[in-house]
Amino acid sequence: MEIIIQENEEQAAKLAAREIRALLLKKPAAVLGLATGSSPVGVYRELIRYHREEGLSFGQATSFNLDEYLGLPPGHPASYATFMQEQLFREIDLPAEGINIPSCAPSEVEVFCEAYDARIAAAGGIDLQILGIGHDGHIGFNEPSSSLGSRTRIKTLTAETRRANARFFSSEDEVPPHVVTMGIANIMEAREIILLAFGRGKAAAIAAAVEGPITASCPASMLQFHRRVKVFIDEEAAGALQRQDYYRWVYEHKPGWQRA
Ligand code: F6R
Repeated sequence: MEIIIQENEEQAAKLAAREIRALLLKKPAAVLGLATGSSPVGVYRELIRYHREEGLSFGQATSFNLDEYLGLPPGHPASYATFMQEQLFREIDLPAEGINIPSCAPSEVEVFCEAYDARIAAAGGIDLQILGIGHDGHIGFNEPSSSLGSRTRIKTLTAETRRANARFFSSEDEVPPHVVTMGIANIMEAREIILLAFGRGKAAAIAAAVEGPITASCPASMLQFHRRVKVFIDEEAAGALQRQDYYRWVYEHKPGWQRA
């Protein structure tokens, strides 16, 4: 794991966006794994800027979103489909046919999930997966106790996650209890992973994911097994890490050829 601690969210988001830009320049038909929530918003803003100012194109790319609430129609203001349109898709040239979001009717979940995994495989697998992390260590909507070998399926949100996400709805009761999410195994198959976390509220989850034991009680800890993970965090989210000084030293002394 490479732990990249930046002074603030904006700087960290800019560095993370540079990685995605580098991938798209090298491989225009890249397959991107995308996340919603607050953490990737700065990265998406920077990608939009690259698109507008430098002509960075997503025209040949494909995207797969991690998760979606079950039972919310795509046009619902709090759906992740709406979120992605507003925060990224409507501002760039990613073709509609290249966009994949795990949205289906509750009665079709099983068939849909199998087909979603098959679609990822048919696209050649995910080149770069963007992740946020929940306060309880979830990635995607793989809540604690999720199988570390899980694939796309239905999950039930914890009360804590529903509370955290109530800000996108008019009340906590409106947050759907069920979601469809890519599994930990899907995430682990991505060729590269970028994990983003900002603010004091994420410090404990980041410490558990990076320095804690590998356990289904903190699904993000599974990332310790991945060979190419970059963790972009601000000072506050880094606050509970024991080896902060080492991570900073490593980053400052990184050979030039290893930088994006
Ligand atoms: C969203 C997702 C979740 C979020 C996590 C953190 O697609 O997969 O794992 O990344 O809940 O959310 P924020 O970034 O809003 O703190």
